[in-house]
Amino acid sequence: MELFLDTASIQEIKRWLAFGVLDGVTTNPSIMLKDGGYDMEARAKEIAQIIAPRPLSVEVYSNDPQEMLEQARTFVTWASNIVVKIPVLNEHGVPCLGVVKTLQEEDIRVNMTACMSFGQVVGGAKAGATYISIFGGRVSDEGHDAPRLVRESVEWLKTWGYRSKIIVGSIRAAANIQEAALAGAHVITVPPQFLEKFLDHQNTRATVRQFNLDAQKTLAKMQELRVGAKR
Ligand code: E4P
Repeated sequence: MELFLDTASIQEIKRWLAFGVLDGVTTNPSIMLKDGGYDMEARAKEIAQIIAPRPLSVEVYSNDPQEMLEQARTFVTWASNIVVKIPVLNEHGVPCLGVVKTLQEEDIRVNMTACMSFGQVVGGAKAGATYISIFGGRVSDEGHDAPRLVRESVEWLKTWGYRSKIIVGSIRAAANIQEAALAGAHVITVPPQFLEKFLDHQNTRATVRQFNLDAQKTLAKMQELRVGAKR
């Protein structure tokens, strides 16, 4: 299973990369805005260079298929590890599978994004998406069973030999990471604050604090014994 960071924060990317747990990064226009990536090209190039050869997903911002294709072709000139995010539908509900298929034929890797249903996963796999992003949090928001969707999608891809990888995004809590992992997600993309919580445990901190305290007491005792022996 691969772990991606869902962020455009250079500081967070460097931090998690140094921990050895990072397999890639995903962004979208909202993440770029939140993390100050106002010059999207400059920020994407910087991230791509830091994480290379790991993949960086950068999302198109248009409802028009032709514009999506043009943006995608431009993005991939920025760095060789850029993957283009294409929404499964545009905001009017028009499928963007033709864009996915064309880019795949041009050897441009696509992360087909904003997927919420099994049907969308099937469409993305058939169109040749390298990655298919299921937005777990947003699926759950509507009362549907996100882990089940992930599990059934992964099983279906395997049964029929499709090579698309399921990315689970829209992580809203540390527990969602475990749910996605146990549902068989190929990749989970996580905002840094939830990865932090996923690793943290107050009892671990308390245990280490106690060990450090007792080590200091042990050293003090040893010191006392040495002083006593010299007398
Ligand atoms: C991942 O690729 C998505 O961009 C992201 O996880 C969406 O998360 P959200 O539902 O919190 O916006």
